[in-house]
Amino acid sequence: MTQTDHAPLLENAFALDLREDSYAIEEVAGEVPAYLRGTYYLNGPALFSRGGQKYRHWLDGDGMVCALRFDDGGVTFTNRFVHSTKFTDEQAAGRPLYRAFGTAFEDDRLLRGVALQSPVNVSVYPAFGTLLAFGEQGLPWELDPVTLETRREYSFGDRLNPISPFSAHANVDLDTGELYNFGISFSARRPCVQIYRFSPAGELVYRSRVAIEAPCSVHDFGLSATYVTVYVAPYVLRMEQLMERGATLMDSLDWQPQQGSRMVVARRLDGAQVAQVPIGNAYSLHQINCFEEGGHLVADVIELDRPVYDQYDVPQLFTDVRRAQAVRYVLDLEAERVVERRTLPYRAMCDFPAIDPRLAARHYDDFWVLGISASEHAGRKFFDQLVHQRWSSEEAAIWQAPAGHYLGGEPIFMADPADDRRGTVICQQFDAERQRGAFLLFDAHDVARGPVAELALRRPVHLAFHASFQPEPAGAA
Ligand SMILES: [Fe+2]
Repeated sequence: MTQTDHAPLLENAFALDLREDSYAIEEVAGEVPAYLRGTYYLNGPALFSRGGQKYRHWLDGDGMVCALRFDDGGVTFTNRFVHSTKFTDEQAAGRPLYRAFGTAFEDDRLLRGVALQSPVNVSVYPAFGTLLAFGEQGLPWELDPVTLETRREYSFGDRLNPISPFSAHANVDLDTGELYNFGISFSARRPCVQIYRFSPAGELVYRSRVAIEAPCSVHDFGLSATYVTVYVAPYVLRMEQLMERGATLMDSLDWQPQQGSRMVVARRLDGAQVAQVPIGNAYSLHQINCFEEGGHLVADVIELDRPVYDQYDVPQLFTDVRRAQAVRYVLDLEAERVVERRTLPYRAMCDFPAIDPRLAARHYDDFWVLGISASEHAGRKFFDQLVHQRWSSEEAAIWQAPAGHYLGGEPIFMADPADDRRGTVICQQFDAERQRGAFLLFDAHDVARGPVAELALRRPVHLAFHASFQPEPAGAA
């Protein structure tokens, strides 16, 4: 059966001739909010072929970081590849050398025979006075925060090594400057969640281990004032399969919904397990926020009925995607049970939830996601909606991109320092027919009106994943 293509020319976004560059943005339609001062960072998979050999999965492309610096003189754009071990080795060889998440090559290599050499392509966060770029697993890489030049692999003072389980979703507590992260040990006999806490100076405070039933793939975690929350869904990695020649990580993952999902909760103080609460048999890639209220832990997530990684075939993305929805779990940790499960009515496939960072780990109402308008239909599709949802409302505010225009980049919230509610939400737009790239700025509380400013790029860049914003310190020139 021929399927309708709901994302015509999307393949152009995965075959770009990318150059490292830095220039002042000259073409600005609309007005950049005057309060924006600081740097927006974005990371995502960019390079999908080398020496004529192609990567077939969205998670495979080598990471490229983009930055938009907002200052008195305007907006400056910079983009550079993360010059990781994988990138430099393969550039020198002129072909792929390492096995990727969803693509295997003849005679390809695994790191120490057990792990992928990271393409460092998922996220980028300011931390410890520097800038760190992360891949799905493995150590982050330190970049120059201004030029984006790659400095070195960041081993936290040699407390971690290249095969330490370490996820892409490190979480910096903006109040304390501490960094938390987690990783999964995929041992078949003793699988566990490892939790890390680092001091504001980057010293390892603890590394704890919480045993789980099976070696499950987990991508994100949450941080409340007292707890670390990890949504462990039974997407099980069979290590023995991965170590076979020709098998990819994608081939080695099994969805086993009958095993059930659990919210694993540990104490922030020391990483000790507090509870493992059964929460049905769905899947979550990203958490929205979590906080404590009325003696309960509230954990908000984007939930899907099954994993989504098998929908990341390049360039045929999301052909058979299921719906997604925001779900609020209110948990009684002592009784290890769900007190309440609430959902919001927006049910199209959506991802990349973002909140006002000032409300992380606190009671909050608003969040923003990218959505896919053609979710109900089979066939290729991609993100083409910016959606503002509120827990206090059944109505979502939606901005629909024009036909043939696709959105990328977690729609992060850049706060107005003079107003505790106001902010700008930013995402990318790719015009697939004209092959033009832009960044769109929206009034966070009026996204349906459309962008307040559109920053056109000289050359289009890849549709990326996660972003962050480093505000200019108060009083900085
Ligand atoms: Fe993510």
